[in-house]
Amino acid sequence: MRYADKVVIVTGGAAGIGAGCVRVFAREGGRVALFDIDAEHGEALAREVSAAGPGQARFFHCDVSRADDLERAVGDVAAAFGRIDGLINNAGIHPPAQSIDETSIDSLEQVLRVNFVSTFAASKHAAPWLRRTRGTIVNVSSMTAVLGQEHSAAYAASKGAQLSFTKALALELGRDGVRVNAVLPSNVDTPLMRAWAATLDDPESALERVAGLQVFGRMADPEEIGRVCLFLSTDDSSFMTGQGLEVEGGASLDY
Ligand SMILES: NC(=O)c1ccc[n+]([C@@H]2O[C@H](COP(=O)([O-])OP(=O)(O)OC[C@H]3O[C@@H](n4cnc5c(N)ncnc54)[C@H](O)[C@@H]3O)[C@@H](O)[C@H]2O)c1
Repeated sequence: MRYADKVVIVTGGAAGIGAGCVRVFAREGGRVALFDIDAEHGEALAREVSAAGPGQARFFHCDVSRADDLERAVGDVAAAFGRIDGLINNAGIHPPAQSIDETSIDSLEQVLRVNFVSTFAASKHAAPWLRRTRGTIVNVSSMTAVLGQEHSAAYAASKGAQLSFTKALALELGRDGVRVNAVLPSNVDTPLMRAWAATLDDPESALERVAGLQVFGRMADPEEIGRVCLFLSTDDSSFMTGQGLEVEGGASLDY
């Protein structure tokens, strides 16, 4: 019960890493506000998690690419629960592999809006509530922020922006006791990962190759990332702020 009665927002909580976070926080007694555009899976997960207890999850329809929608949804959570202790900025998209020549400025702006502007906006609107609880923000960035990724310049830049933002905001909010950290996963077995593989000629061998990039010979399970988000959201990490934790199964070793 490491999150008993505390309130956390998880963006993109209907699937993948976000769903992993929703399950982990609710299992630890948390009250989880799940933001997503996928109402069907979001509602279903919230019902399942609340039935299992001991915590609960509630679905809030929110398109994180719209700052006004985020402001409204954060306000709805505060009105429903009366407090906000944590924010997990997880919602994100990964466009198909594309060279810079093939990438339009419109698609660059869309990736930045969903992956980074949302992180900034949700943090901005949650900050007044987090100051009251001396709460936490965890930004789900990516190893691509520090290693790059071929034909993914827009995506990697959006993840790098989240990491730089983490460090700058940690300085600003630390004075009020609010901690801000980032998680940088390598490869996680999620719908996003499988959708990306499906765009390639041989999806099965692509997934096998990706699994082999980690020293364990497998991708992470979404809950393994969720448990690191939990660590960064509780007093277990009380002296950590502004850090990007590389949760990468050894993928960056032995270059
Ligand atoms: N899967 C990986 O290997 C991996 C690795 C590193 C970082 N990440 C990061 O983790 C985060 C989650 O990735 P995932 O693999 O779980 O993705 P996913 O596609 O499996 O799940 C993402 C969830 O976000 C939701 N979402 C998408 N756009 C949204 C929007 N505009 N508003 C609200 N919700 C929206 C989707 O409906 C979905 O439920 C992303 O930020 C991604 O960059 C993933």
